[in-house]
Amino acid sequence: MPCNCCEITDNAFSEEEARAQLRDYRKRGPANQTKLILEAIRSLRLKDAELLDIGGGIGAIHHELLKDVARAATHVDASSAYLKDAKEEAARRGHSDRVNFIHADFTEVASELPKVDIVTLDRVVCCYPDFHKLLKAAAEHSRRALAFTYPRETWYMRLALTVMNFFQSLRKDPFRVFLHPVAEMDSLLKREGFERVSLHRLFVWEMALYQKRGGAA
Ligand SMILES: C[S@@+](CC[C@H](N)C(=O)[O-])C[C@H]1O[C@@H](n2cnc3c(N)ncnc32)[C@H](O)[C@@H]1O
Repeated sequence: MPCNCCEITDNAFSEEEARAQLRDYRKRGPANQTKLILEAIRSLRLKDAELLDIGGGIGAIHHELLKDVARAATHVDASSAYLKDAKEEAARRGHSDRVNFIHADFTEVASELPKVDIVTLDRVVCCYPDFHKLLKAAAEHSRRALAFTYPRETWYMRLALTVMNFFQSLRKDPFRVFLHPVAEMDSLLKREGFERVSLHRLFVWEMALYQKRGGAA
């Protein structure tokens, strides 16, 4: 589905980049911040869950959670290069029939998608300008849990992202990286009926797990 976000994202995430990430995943397994999401979701001890992975990239989260936690997954991604490799890996693992792949900006197709048990966004909110729209739509699709990673609000991340965006503007590339305010993202999710149940930090990334208040998990 053509959309402004998809065009921008397709330029930002090339086939070479997606390929390199898939090679890395096959060799070393999930990246460190992805491992935090996987551990957090597994700590909820869910079985036969339905998963929605927004901006799932090469699909590491569903490749892993389909082993033990999830029975089915939907992967919505604005990048066609990432989706291609995620599909290839799903086929290699023999679980293509359990994953629904959608090429779109999630905020544009959210109203057509059903609610699921778990929603994940690994390094996605930082690629999207309007975190209110993206996180609200994500939260509205979760019956039980939402886990996501985002850049830490530190002076060095602020500096790094400012430098990255400066070079993007010199290249006349419209893709930008965003350091969204953590307190505002937390307030939004609380208003949507979630509470934060765990928070872990790496040098660059922070991972927060939210559970739906009064949910079944
Ligand atoms: C930095 S990559 C992260 C990929 C993967 N989650 C990972 O951690 O390796 C950001 C991903 O989010 C996707 N993305 C960003 N905004 C999106 C949106 N609104 N809807 C769907 N996908 C989105 C991009 O296409 C890209 O695949």
